[in-house]
Amino acid sequence: MARQRSILGLDVGTYSVKAVELTGIGDDVRVTGLGWERIPSPDMVEDTIHAVLANNNLRARRVVTSVSGRSVIVRHVTMMPMPPEELRQAVRYEADKYIPYDVDDVQLDCQQLGPADEAGSQIRVLLVAAKRQLIEEHIGMLKRVDLQPAMIDVDLFALANAFELCNARAELAAEGEAVALVDIGASKTSICVMKGMADCFTREVYTAGNAMTDAVAKRFGESPTAVEGMKEDPGEAISSMSDAMLPVIDDLGSEVRLSFDYYENQFEQTVSKVYVSGGSIMFPPMLDALKNSFELETNRFNPFETVNVEVADDVIIHEKASDMVVAFGLASRLRGM
Ligand SMILES: Nc1ncnc2c1ncn2[C@@H]1O[C@H](COP(=O)(O)OP(=O)(O)OP(=O)(O)O)[C@@H](O)[C@H]1O
Ligand SMILES: [Mg+2]
Repeated sequence: MARQRSILGLDVGTYSVKAVELTGIGDDVRVTGLGWERIPSPDMVEDTIHAVLANNNLRARRVVTSVSGRSVIVRHVTMMPMPPEELRQAVRYEADKYIPYDVDDVQLDCQQLGPADEAGSQIRVLLVAAKRQLIEEHIGMLKRVDLQPAMIDVDLFALANAFELCNARAELAAEGEAVALVDIGASKTSICVMKGMADCFTREVYTAGNAMTDAVAKRFGESPTAVEGMKEDPGEAISSMSDAMLPVIDDLGSEVRLSFDYYENQFEQTVSKVYVSGGSIMFPPMLDALKNSFELETNRFNPFETVNVEVADDVIIHEKASDMVVAFGLASRLRGM
C-alpha cells in the first residue's frame, strides 16, 4: 500500500512567511495545511516562522525551504557532454568562471537540462551556488524552530515546480507551449520562462514591491511604512497610487520582456502567455498594469484552483493564493521523496 507522507514548504521572504503543507499518497497530492504571516521587522523572522507554525496547527516537521537573493547564483551554462559524476567535478573545477565567490565558500549543485544538442557536442547545464554560511544560518534557524530541513531549494525552481504540478492537472500551458512565470515579491522578482523543465530559463531581478512602495511614498510624501498600509487598503487613493507605480512597472516590464527575447532567441520558441504571482499582485490594478507592460496575455497564477485543498482558510485560499506559489512549489518536492 502506498505510504502517506507530508512535507511543509516554507517560503521565508523579506516581507512575509508563507507555509504550505502537502500530503501525498502515491501520485495524489492534497493541501493539508496553510499559513501566512507578515514579518514585522527583520529581527523577527524566527518569531514569525514560529507564529506561522503555531497559529495554523501545522504538523509536518520535514521542511523544504529556499535561500535566495544576491548570494545565491543560478547560471545556465553549456559544457561538453559527460556523465553526471564527471559533470560535478568539471563544474567545481570551472566554477570560478561563473561565480564571483571562492569555490570553497559555496555549496555547488548542477544538473543537465535536456539532451545534448544535435551534433552531440554540447549540453546545457544548470548551475546553482549558494554561500555556505547562508545555508548554515538558514538550517540553524529551522532547527531552532524544531523543523527538520529535508532540502534547501531556490525560489526560481519552486516557481517552476509549482507550475509543473498544476499544469499536470489543469492545462495551464498546451503541449509545446512556452510560458513565463513572474513572481513579484517585496525585494525581488523571479522570472522563469519555460516549456517543460528541460527548456527553462530563469532570472532574478531586484525591482519589485519595495520599489513600488518607495515610488508611492515619494509621490505622497509618506513613509514606506504608511504606504504598506495604503497598498492593502487603498480606498480613493488607488488610481494615483497606481500612477505613481507605473514607472516601476514599466522598468520591470522591460526586464521581463528582455527575458522573453533571450528565450525566444535561445530556444527559437515564442512565449505565449504569462502567469504572475507574489504579494505585489494583490494590489488590484496590478494585473492590468502588468498585462500592458508585458504586452502579452497575463493571468494570475492560483495553485489552489488545481489541487485539492483540505484547509478552511478562505483568506489564504482566495485572496493570498498567488502569494503562496513559492511555498507550494517548495512543498511539491514531496513528489520526489
Ligand atoms: N494585500 C496586499 N495588497 C497590495 N500589496 C500587497 C498586499 N500584501 C502584500 N503586498 C505587497 O507585496 C509585497 C510582498 O510580497 P511577498 O509576500 O511575495 O514578498 P516576499 O516573498 O516576502 O519578498 P521577497 O521574495 O522579495 O523577499 C510587498 O511589497 C507588499 O507591499
Ligand atoms: Mg518571495
